[in-house]
This record gives sequence, C-alpha cells and structure tokens, in this order.
Amino acid sequence: MSVIFVLNGPNLNLLGKRQPHIYGHETLADVEVDCRRVADELGHQIRFHQSNREYEIIDWIHEAREEAAGIVINPAAFTHTSVAILDALNAFESPVIEVHISNVHKREAFRHHSYVSQRADGVIAGLGTEGYRLALRRIASLIKAAADK
Ligand code: DQA
Repeated sequence: MSVIFVLNGPNLNLLGKRQPHIYGHETLADVEVDCRRVADELGHQIRFHQSNREYEIIDWIHEAREEAAGIVINPAAFTHTSVAILDALNAFESPVIEVHISNVHKREAFRHHSYVSQRADGVIAGLGTEGYRLALRRIASLIKAAADK
C-alpha cells in the first residue's frame, strides 16, 4: 500500500459555492470522499489537503518527497503563477498528475499556461471532479508499473 497526496490550491475550499456553472455543485468534502473510495479500491491511502497559501502547498510537496508515491495536484490559480510550486514538484521524484475541474483551455488566455505542466506526467482538464478519480487511477497504474520493473 502506498500513500498518494491529493493537493488543492486556493479557493477550492469554496467548491460547490463558487461559480457552480464552471466548477459544479460538488464540495471539496464530496471530492475527498470520492477520492478515498477510489484509493481504497486501488489499495492505496491518500492524504488530502487544501490551502489558500502557496507555502503550505510547497511544504506538503516537500513532505511528499519522504512519504508519497505520487501526487495529484489541482494548484488552482497557482497553476498560472507559481514557479515555486514547479520547483518543489521538480524536487519530487515520483509521478505527478495535474488536475483542473474546468477546461482551462476554453477559458481566459491567462489560464492557458501552466507552470506545473512542465513537470506533470499527465494533465486532466475539463472532466469535472471526475478528473481527480481518473488521476488517482493513473497514479496507481504508474506506481504499479514502477514496482513491476
Ligand atoms: C482550476 C482552474 C484555474 O484556472 C482556477 O484558477 C482555479 C481552478 C480548475 O480546477 O479548473 O481555481 O484549477
């Protein structure tokens, strides 16, 4: 059994209340329940976190260096601004999947660039909160492929 970190950036604590026409009606607590169910099914554990503070996300990525076999991250607005989160992820050696609930490519031009995508092993955008579950499945198959090597 491995540990997978699921990290969420700023404003995602308002999921379900914030612009539901873009992000849907599910709350972050609902997403966490779904992620725990999928992780159980896959035989892994998750650590699920959200913060509005860049440094907390960086600290969790540093912790993941010691504790996690993979990271699923929705960096939210930090996606488009944070070299520091990219640097932290570059210091993490296991798989990283970037998730966006909305299709960022269909939205404003400033959302089309992601610093995190330079490091991510895969990017899921526009599949709603299902993207988190799919990202966990992908991380689990990457963990298995690495173990089978
Ligand atoms: C988001 C997309 C970002 O552009 C935005 O700043 C968010 C959420 C998404 O999940 O679609 O806060 O990452």
